Amino acid sequence: MSLLQSLKRRLAGSAPAPERRPLVPFKLEAIDAAFALPAVRSVADLGGVWAVDAGYTFYALERHGAERAVLVDDDITPPVRERARNFGQLELLEQDFGLERTPADVGPIGVVLLFDVLLHQVDPDWDTILRRYAPHAQAFAIANPMWDASPGTVRLLDLGEERYRSAVPPQDNLEGLYDRLDEVKPDRGKPWRDVHDVWQWGITDAELRARMADLGFTAAWAERRGRWRGLADFEDCAYVFHRA
Ligand SMILES: C[S@@+](CC[C@H](N)C(=O)[O-])C[C@H]1O[C@@H](n2cnc3c(N)ncnc32)[C@H](O)[C@@H]1O
Repeated sequence: MSLLQSLKRRLAGSAPAPERRPLVPFKLEAIDAAFALPAVRSVADLGGVWAVDAGYTFYALERHGAERAVLVDDDITPPVRERARNFGQLELLEQDFGLERTPADVGPIGVVLLFDVLLHQVDPDWDTILRRYAPHAQAFAIANPMWDASPGTVRLLDLGEERYRSAVPPQDNLEGLYDRLDEVKPDRGKPWRDVHDVWQWGITDAELRARMADLGFTAAWAERRGRWRGLADFEDCAYVFHRA
């Protein structure tokens, strides 16, 4: 990320991008499990950029020879654009994947990747996003910190500032967050209480499976890997759901 980009992110209150992180083997296994399904030959990576520069999209292209790939992210970085030039079958969409029109922009797709993004989605909420993409997708690969501190799904900001800060990982943009919840964040056009730049949802495993079942999808593969980066309230989970 250039100095200018990083300055723009800071002024907008977005979390600064860390150095590029290694790809998580667990998420690669989810992609492998999805491409093992006969109906999966293409991939849409929703929110695939931050800290990994679309590494999971490129993995699907290089390892599985995806016939078509679509990367959708609000913030597409120059290294992603540069590497994308090697893949004629890759389309980059720099837009909100929660917009009503985006699933149609993506079109019919084998697997939709949602890696560490579902818990950030408000207006539309995470389950509305799943519902909007379901008619276009044969499968979903989802990796998400799953809430297991109480039996039901919770809106984390409703827990109050102290409990919220104890539940989520530390981030630069949390300082003063509760004082600006109703302030519109200019680059997102939404109030802070709804932006994807902070943790929003504690989604339970049972609720995710139930919502997917309502949409006609069943788990073909699921793994749990213990505490998510040591957080007491979240378990590190990944799933591949396919049309039942
Ligand atoms: C926590 S990072 C996850 C990156 C990657 N998927 C991974 O697993 O390492 C979230 C990414 O999703 C993007 N993002 C989150 N919600 C979005 C939305 N509704 N529309 C577009 N991009 C979104 C952010 O810009 C960021 O690149």
